Amino acid sequence: MSRKVLVAYATKMGATASIAGAIGEELRRAGHQVDVLDVADVKAVSEYDAVIVGSAIYLRRWRPEAVTFLRKHADQLSTRQVWLFHSGPVGPDKDEAQTMPRKVARLADRIGAEPAVTFAGRLDPDSAKGFLARRLATGDLAVDSRDWKKITDWAHQISTELAVNSDK
Ligand SMILES: Cc1cc2nc3c(=O)[nH]c(=O)nc-3n(C[C@H](O)[C@H](O)[C@H](O)COP(=O)(O)O)c2cc1C
Repeated sequence: MSRKVLVAYATKMGATASIAGAIGEELRRAGHQVDVLDVADVKAVSEYDAVIVGSAIYLRRWRPEAVTFLRKHADQLSTRQVWLFHSGPVGPDKDEAQTMPRKVARLADRIGAEPAVTFAGRLDPDSAKGFLARRLATGDLAVDSRDWKKITDWAHQISTELAVNSDK
């Protein structure tokens, strides 16, 4: 059964936006109706059956606009299927699962969402924004570690769960 799905993302340097786009593409391929939007551009989630929320991680935190999104829509999200992801680790650390920041974990609990899955990120001199990012984007950290297969496999898994479990 086709479901209406929102993929909402928070990004600073664009890597998480592309991950959200790839998730949206995979869900569309599976026949779902999908909007992929920056969290800041989402007015309401009421029209969606399911919502996927993803944020870039900076200094172990989610982007503030992603936390605001979860808090603002928590009641509506708690009555929908929700999946979370975050994008961060690069280079030698690319496979290290990141723990959810405490605030995000509390909100996930309130919403009834599983812990966020970690996707590797991208840090490179061309996309680096800000002094710290440009300083970090050198050597083996200056790399695009995004694993498109892992991302589309996860989205595919969600598409099958959407088809069978539409009660929440
Ligand atoms: C200043 C800075 C701090 C970062 N802190 C973390 C971190 O705590 N954990 C992590 O996994 N990745 C961290 N990263 C890596 C970013 O999360 C990664 O580059 C991500 O893909 C950026 O996403 P975006 O392009 O959507 O903003 C950091 C990057 C920068 C520049």
